[in-house]
Amino acid sequence: MKKTWWKESVVYQIYPRSFADSNGDGIGDLRGIISKLDYLKDLGVNVVWLSPVYRSPNDDNGYDISDYRDIMPEFGALADWEELLTEMHRRGIKLVMDLVVNHTSDEHPWFIEARKSRDNPYRDYYIWRPARDGREPNNWQSFFSGSAWQYDAPTGEYYLHLFSRKQPDLNWENPRVRAEIYDMMHWWLKKGVDGFRMDVINMISKAPGLPDAPVTSGERYQFGGRYFVNGPRLLEYLDEMKRTVLSHYDVLTVGETPLVSTAHAIDITNEETGHLNMLFQFEHMDLDAEPGAASSRASIRPWRLLDLKQVMTRWQKDLEGHGWNSLYLSNHDQPRAVSRFGNDGRYRVESAKLLATFLHTLQGTPYVYQGEEIGMTNVAFESIEDYRDIETCNMYREYVEERGYDPQAVLATIHAKSRDNARTPVQWDAGAQAGFTSGTPWIKVNPNYRTINVAQALADPDSILHYYRRLIQLRKENPIIVYGRYELILDADEQVYAYTRTLPDDRLLVILNFSADTPVFALPGHIGFSAHDLLIANYPVEPSDDIRLLTLRPYEARVYRLR
Ligand code: NOJ
Repeated sequence: MKKTWWKESVVYQIYPRSFADSNGDGIGDLRGIISKLDYLKDLGVNVVWLSPVYRSPNDDNGYDISDYRDIMPEFGALADWEELLTEMHRRGIKLVMDLVVNHTSDEHPWFIEARKSRDNPYRDYYIWRPARDGREPNNWQSFFSGSAWQYDAPTGEYYLHLFSRKQPDLNWENPRVRAEIYDMMHWWLKKGVDGFRMDVINMISKAPGLPDAPVTSGERYQFGGRYFVNGPRLLEYLDEMKRTVLSHYDVLTVGETPLVSTAHAIDITNEETGHLNMLFQFEHMDLDAEPGAASSRASIRPWRLLDLKQVMTRWQKDLEGHGWNSLYLSNHDQPRAVSRFGNDGRYRVESAKLLATFLHTLQGTPYVYQGEEIGMTNVAFESIEDYRDIETCNMYREYVEERGYDPQAVLATIHAKSRDNARTPVQWDAGAQAGFTSGTPWIKVNPNYRTINVAQALADPDSILHYYRRLIQLRKENPIIVYGRYELILDADEQVYAYTRTLPDDRLLVILNFSADTPVFALPGHIGFSAHDLLIANYPVEPSDDIRLLTLRPYEARVYRLR
């Protein structure tokens, strides 16, 4: 397997709106990020993925871009961005930008032109269709509720928007659109950015004819994914993008790709013939939704460790030697990892460390989402008025106002799954507004900031934060953590997730108790060794422990080197 810097990296994701506000307007900004770069440096991460900072009317917090070559004024100016890049590079931190090119904002000049007339030169930058029987051109549902089509009166046609009405989909079939995007990528790369995270990049190719989605429920609109996810020309477009742009730079590329199989992932991330370094797959994010649910956001069920093992093991094994995994347990679209996969009550600290151990000891590149490193938790606002996310607010309206669901039941789902769980401000200290802003934050701070915050974590040598630092350090010192082959052991154990990592001359054993119980871990006999050294653990551990038979403590995590 080839050694590369992006395999050996640990990436930290910043959602700028919620990270740090420098000017008191209640909105995080670039100068706020600059003020925290030493914090990131001390954490040990060497790449930052910055969620969108481009000019945007913020219908979807920057994922609706109106100018790809300028900065959102609320976040600062291009000069601030240049300074951010310089200051990051000075600290040895690389910058990965978000590339959102499945759609633009409806306020992008291309769309403003396109909607003017059917023969406008920009018309074909987007996907327009006439009405069918006086209604939408097909039955596709938008990810943000309702139809994926919007009627546009000036020209009497509908345009496609897989996300909000203010996020019209670009028409990738048009070579001019592709050329504009490649130009824009070169523009940022020439400024020195170190890579791209590509928003829903496997949705850019739509099936010819845009056929109706199969009807699987009594709802008016249906999920049309089979006609736009991993579409017919996707690999061709990615190939062109690689040839035209990416192959000219040494960069980190990660595609956000819902509904990919490991076979797709191998095609796309193959070291020789692939197009991107790695993908974000979603299978582990869907384990706590009913299979086949119209939206995994609106469906909750308890997840099972055996399912998690099965999914992660498949991704680890299938990509081994063929592609590369990205590893994540949370991001700005997901609930907080400790609330979802751990225990955010009594065992918050232990379980957050266990999850961190898991994240850093699989084969792949780990992504840490802001606040995860201090064990930030989900939030439960009592009123829908306190939520800001367009997906959450639309879902509430649809379920409560249109379908008549009990508002409390819908709120309970939102408490578990809303994207705003991840978007409350980063908790820097125990002062007003958690030290995020001197003003009024755009979204409320999680009330637990008085006990859960960075200042507390820095002061406590036993904190989750210090544990992340040690894990990141260990990864730098031990190539086996990056490159070692993964083997699952105890595959049927419902509480303990354990695996080995192996290089020709080195071997690690990872033991993770994913429960609040005290199960017994019995090492399978085929794993021989003569001595063992503890690399890291989230409880005090006796060197004399017999690791062939251990009674584990709640959410206990241990990593050993076997000799
Ligand atoms: C995925 C992004 O992560 C999410 O935040 C956004 O709403 C959609 N893509 C649309 O851009």
